Amino acid sequence: MTELLYEGKAKRLYSTDQEFVLRVAYKDDATAFNGEKHAVLTGKGQLNNEISTIMFERLAQAGVPNHFIQKISDNEQLVKAVTIVPIEVIVRNIAAGSMAKRLGLEEGRALKQPIVEFCYKRDDLGDPLITVDHVYELELATPEEVSLLTTMALKVNQVLINYFNDFNITLVDFKLEFGRLKETGELVLADEVSPDTCRLWDKTTGERLDKDVFRKNIGNLQEAYGKLLERIGGNA
Ligand code: TMP
Ligand code: ASP
Repeated sequence: MTELLYEGKAKRLYSTDQEFVLRVAYKDDATAFNGEKHAVLTGKGQLNNEISTIMFERLAQAGVPNHFIQKISDNEQLVKAVTIVPIEVIVRNIAAGSMAKRLGLEEGRALKQPIVEFCYKRDDLGDPLITVDHVYELELATPEEVSLLTTMALKVNQVLINYFNDFNITLVDFKLEFGRLKETGELVLADEVSPDTCRLWDKTTGERLDKDVFRKNIGNLQEAYGKLLERIGGNA
């Protein structure tokens, strides 16, 4: 018997007959602005499952430990069970989105060096930006974990910048979530790495290949994600 353990905005998480293994099903739902905007876009789950699989495999090869085990169907993967650290770790290479707005920067301005931000993963509060002092006050992670989160996030950035560069795509920014493995306690990359959680721009044309097409109503999401998948050599 498998049981639905958790339903998020874009994925469902089920138990399996193995204690430390879960099944993730990617949904066709797209949301933005903390769920205010919502649509069901047929094929999105399959595209994100495929793209996230490629990302996790690439990252594992590059030495970034993550929860991914294997893709088992069009929209499902097996992953290792973790306890999610309630921090969204954002890495930015180019000013865009909330950072451009908050600091009054022009979207597209290259940053002098990658910027790491922490947000408190709390939908009811709108995932607010927090400092490391807040992390300790709320006991979200230990100092050792904060240092690991930062190092791992910057390593992911380097690996993915190089990866997308080969396909003439700029990695503008992205959001990561980490978890402690239920089996061993090891901190690993979890959740998903997909065009829902990254900003990806065509280097030549600036075309958006990520969820901004949905957030900003500037194109067809499945078309954008399909193009991205085709560029990085996968098949939908
Ligand atoms: P932001 O500029 O809106 O803060 O987003 C930064 C990056 O994080 C961007 O690549 C999109 C991603 N992101 C998520 O994955 N989930 C979210 O809830 C938000 C707000 C952003
Ligand atoms: N994932 C968030 C939401 O659903 C926001 C976003 O990605 O823009 O609402």
